Amino acid sequence: MKTFLVTGGAGFIGSNFIHYMFGKYGEDIRIINVDKLTYAGNLENLKDVEELPNYTFVKADICDKEAIRKIFAENDIDRVIHFAAESHVDRSIVEPELFVKTNVLGTANMINCAKEAWENPDGTFKEGKRFLHVSTDEVYGSLPEDGGYFYETTPYAPHSPYSASKASSDMLVKAYMDTYHFPANITNCSNNYGPYQFPEKLIPLMINNALAGKKLPVYGDGKNVRDWLYVEDHCKAIDMVQEKGKLFETYNVGGHNEKQNIEIVRTIIDVLREELSDDDPRKEHVTYDLITYVEDRKGHDRRYAIAPDKIRADLGWEPDTMFREGIRKTIDWYFRHMDWMEHITSGSYEKYYEDMYSAKLS
Ligand code: NAD
Ligand code: TYD
Repeated sequence: MKTFLVTGGAGFIGSNFIHYMFGKYGEDIRIINVDKLTYAGNLENLKDVEELPNYTFVKADICDKEAIRKIFAENDIDRVIHFAAESHVDRSIVEPELFVKTNVLGTANMINCAKEAWENPDGTFKEGKRFLHVSTDEVYGSLPEDGGYFYETTPYAPHSPYSASKASSDMLVKAYMDTYHFPANITNCSNNYGPYQFPEKLIPLMINNALAGKKLPVYGDGKNVRDWLYVEDHCKAIDMVQEKGKLFETYNVGGHNEKQNIEIVRTIIDVLREELSDDDPRKEHVTYDLITYVEDRKGHDRRYAIAPDKIRADLGWEPDTMFREGIRKTIDWYFRHMDWMEHITSGSYEKYYEDMYSAKLS
């Protein structure tokens, strides 16, 4: 039975990954989820697994050496899937140092504790141990509107404090692989969407605002392009890389699904209108009239687009969920989990929303 240490498992992708892994492997794996429970971590995301005998939650900070060492000392960890991070570009523009602390120093601590636990006295590593560092396509910078893709060989050129901190953490993992032959892989994935995404990111924010009849704040001219992947397809890719990826390799993950932000917002409105019944009072205000162009994000990257050729060719990974279907599934999920959204958007979210958007939307 393999034991997985998942960091940041109470966040968006981490909680989807834990569901995916229990759905696929059931009682054949054990998962320890270590999460600090920042604003982005929510144990409600894991309600259906919390009673499982092969699941354990540990509340700890990935920067806390003693806490992470203790987990390795008390458990024979086979795999680390490292999601924990500060993940929102807008927040990184306001509070960059937190991103350096969590994303760079936290990753340094994670790889160091794993190395300590897994290294043999002769400098080799115990059989079968692997560390998967989950990263982003944003480390590659911005592409021109008229073409080009991010390959694993594309030089790093991050622009935001978020992407710079993720790039730094990738570099550290690469340095450990090169220097110590530390058994790791890196995945660089495009923008994810799906259930349990915190409503400060584009798609859930637009769904939530549209249903509440609030303006839909589109940055700049709305023509920035992101390459969207349904979160379950990312989880599948991570599982394939940790199972059969070649050690020390980086894999880019994306489904060739480039969309301008404005297209995303219009699609959300279209699908919401299809899903809302005619007698639902919200149908009246869910229209394109809610779309409001606001001041652009500072340093806003124009276009991201992943070339997933390597993960397709080497591991046979393909996305299963096409965009329109994925958006429909996501909207259905939010409809069925309005209580989840209400819990999340009460309290500190209101302050965040006020700080971030009140000047922009006034
Ligand atoms: P998220 O913000 O939803 O979740 C992050 C989780 O990490 C939260 O549960 C939070 O409590 C936890 N965390 C934060 N700081 C911590 C700390 N110091 N110690 C322990 N736990 C801490 O993020 P997400 O969207 O699920 O992203 C997960 C990972 O995937 C990140 O590393 C991110 O860079 C990467 N990624 C995200 C996307 C995307 O579109 N969301 C795309 C590619 C890569
Ligand atoms: P986001 O979900 O924050 O992801 P990232 O910045 O990591 O790509 O934003 C996705 C795109 O949507 C990005 O180009 C910024 C834009 N955006 C808006 O136009 N309005 C918003 O309110 C938000 C949150 C994002």
